[in-house]
Amino acid sequence: MQSPSASAARTGPNALVLADTALLLTAGVPLLDSDAATGVSLAEITPFEEVRISLAAHGQGKCGGFERLPVQPWMQALEVREFGRSELLKLVHSIGSIESLAPGLPAMVANPRIVSALQAVDESRLRDTVEWLSSFPTRFNRGSTPNEHVEAFRKKLEALLAGTIPEARIDLIAHQSTPQKSIRVSIPGTTSPDEIVVLGAHHDSINQSWGETRAPGADDNASGSSNLFEALRILASQGRAARTIEFFWYAGEESGLLGSAEIARDYAARKKNVVGVLQLDMTLFPGDGEFVLGSMTDFTSPALRSWLAQLNKTYIGGRIVEDRCGYGCSDHASWHRQGFPAIMPFEASFDRMFPDLHTTRDVVDERSSFRHSAMFSKIALAFAMELGGGY
Ligand code: BES
Ligand code: ZN
Repeated sequence: MQSPSASAARTGPNALVLADTALLLTAGVPLLDSDAATGVSLAEITPFEEVRISLAAHGQGKCGGFERLPVQPWMQALEVREFGRSELLKLVHSIGSIESLAPGLPAMVANPRIVSALQAVDESRLRDTVEWLSSFPTRFNRGSTPNEHVEAFRKKLEALLAGTIPEARIDLIAHQSTPQKSIRVSIPGTTSPDEIVVLGAHHDSINQSWGETRAPGADDNASGSSNLFEALRILASQGRAARTIEFFWYAGEESGLLGSAEIARDYAARKKNVVGVLQLDMTLFPGDGEFVLGSMTDFTSPALRSWLAQLNKTYIGGRIVEDRCGYGCSDHASWHRQGFPAIMPFEASFDRMFPDLHTTRDVVDERSSFRHSAMFSKIALAFAMELGGGY
């Protein structure tokens, strides 16, 4: 049992409810507590959120969608939370699955627009972008030309977005901790622009061998960067979502998550409402076989991971293997440290990952699978459209 959101219990005319985690996330409700195995969460909801949850539940073919807990008028705020937690535990022990809360009804229903958008993911375009990015001699953040590929990538994004969504904007973000810049593409939401869905990948590369400066970084991480580029290409043809969708290509990850740490800190300081963060870092090497994806369990949110499992079941059909890095191995950790819910789907389990990262051998070769990698563009696109809402 873990708390994915650090938000405090709210009082007043609010209701304490147990509901399907996916439903609460779809309605943008902060979770007080969550059980990953059953997909049930505890939340305190305002009357307005109650309506949003009911609407989201109806959209998924369910009725009310939540169970209201009998809070007594004499209970203090802390007691209310404790009571909610014990009711969640009781429920988790008694049912074992969300099916008992909503008998026979699936938690996520495939949206035909998302299904057809996913079919547009193009392996050969993905390959082109990975080959293009990995052909720069290095993308090292402390090299003599840390922003050469950044400027070139910006131009590619401008061409990609030309004539699509007029409100989309591209920004280069300068940092204190590195001369390299991060890139952000922001597509403002139509009805909930303050709620932000984040997709990210680091664009830098590194070579850790003495005397060697070439760092092609095809798997680490031209692959994740290109997955997002391909997902954005298709998303831009779908119009805007209800929520704001932001794509990030981070600077200086290889020197200690530099770009993402500054960005996540800034978003937390500005109290930005980031509803979910997807990180892609290494997706090209199918170490456990094609269509097997790792899902990192450390520095990520249990609730968002179970939502990812539903997303995968509904749209992708891959086999998820849960594993852990054991340390903050990529930019999802920066967001997690600031209290935002993050996930990191990965090319394989930790032990079966690509062995030649951070060397000159991290290139496109016979070990690369663009069919495998394309699955991660699909995950990114489904994540953006399903969590972005309004399609
Ligand atoms: N792509 C790796 C992260 C990674 C490694 C993910 C192993 C999953 C499994 C990333 O670019 C990297 O090299 N990270 C550093 C840590 C970072 C804080 C400098 C690492 O793993 O050493
Ligand atoms: Zn790396």
